[in-house]
Amino acid sequence: MKKLTIRDLDIKNKKVLVRVDFNVPLSSAGEISDDNRIRAALPTIEYIIRENGITILMSHLGKPKGKLDMKYSLKPVAKRLSELINREVLFADDCIGSIVENLIQQAKPGDVVLLENLRFHAEEEKNNPDFAKSLAMLGDLYVNDAFATAHRAHASTEGITKFFKTPVAGFLMEKEIDYLSYVAESPKHPYVAIIGGSKITDKLGVIKNLLPKVDYLLLGGGLIFNFIKAQGYEIGSSIFEPEMLAEAKSLLSEKKIKLPIDIVIADKIDASANTKIVNTNAILLGWSGVDIGPETIKSYSEIIKNAKTIAWAGPIGIFEIDKFANGSKEIGLAVADATSAGATSVVGGGDTGSALKKFGLKNKMSFVSTAGSASLEFLEGKELPGITALKDKV
Ligand code: 3PG
Repeated sequence: MKKLTIRDLDIKNKKVLVRVDFNVPLSSAGEISDDNRIRAALPTIEYIIRENGITILMSHLGKPKGKLDMKYSLKPVAKRLSELINREVLFADDCIGSIVENLIQQAKPGDVVLLENLRFHAEEEKNNPDFAKSLAMLGDLYVNDAFATAHRAHASTEGITKFFKTPVAGFLMEKEIDYLSYVAESPKHPYVAIIGGSKITDKLGVIKNLLPKVDYLLLGGGLIFNFIKAQGYEIGSSIFEPEMLAEAKSLLSEKKIKLPIDIVIADKIDASANTKIVNTNAILLGWSGVDIGPETIKSYSEIIKNAKTIAWAGPIGIFEIDKFANGSKEIGLAVADATSAGATSVVGGGDTGSALKKFGLKNKMSFVSTAGSASLEFLEGKELPGITALKDKV
């Protein structure tokens, strides 16, 4: 990685301001339903504790739109973090101002402080320089470990870096950049990309950026119906973006792109649906494509088996409904097998990560990103402002 990291800082007795992404899913009862993003930040936090620094964590949670809304309080995260690191987490009821300053003043080396949701202040998302300065004043050093928010130029990810001589990456940020750069820049061949998800608009940038680098690009998910329609076949009631038809048509001639041969169709998008397996040129009127069929699974798995590098973004079918989850699961198993045979597999987070978690396959991959949009933008080849703002190695 080209950026300096937390290893390049002298942390002892310093107040280390760390931007983390603790934007975790909460149940209606306010309980954390997946603590993966908190766990992913532990190497950085534990390193600062070991090095005798004071950790000051800042994050957003949800979209409170610049207003105080306790539904989005980070308090439950403080509790979970404290369980995970086995020590008290000092929680500040705001992220700037005297409440926070007083709390930090009392903190000793080894202590961990978590600030309240940054997005309770509208200035955060506006990248307001005064707000960034108020945050910066809280620490001696700045570390960004929030890869999942690196596509946002916000006060805590971008503006703040201007107030530090050496803004650096944390361990999670480093790992994310290393794995995603590997598949985006210097992969071993054969290189297979698997692109799924419901909308082609979300994935077109990734398809176009990866296409010149891969040997095969396997398509799945709802986005395939744009291609099937572009081939001139009926798609019944399957998901489709008419404005993307020309784009899909222009990609049809690409030899590296593989489309499903057969498809699972359903008479409704529901667990009680009737299903059939048909060829992709025989989708029935009124029925929707919901998963890839067995022939496609077989031919995709054969390609995946020989891969040395695999990049995967987007589920292959509507995996949330068990009846439509087989394609995502079988492709997950094929990637897991290839990984245990020596391939490097890198999975964009978001829905694909959730699908792998459901099938118990998440830790069978080389790396699953903690990010949704940020990992996609990275794979699209876009510059992420939160990364650009960090200090380069010389
Ligand atoms: C995410 O979950 O993708 C990140 O935390 C960014 O959240 P945002 O889309 O609300 O900026």
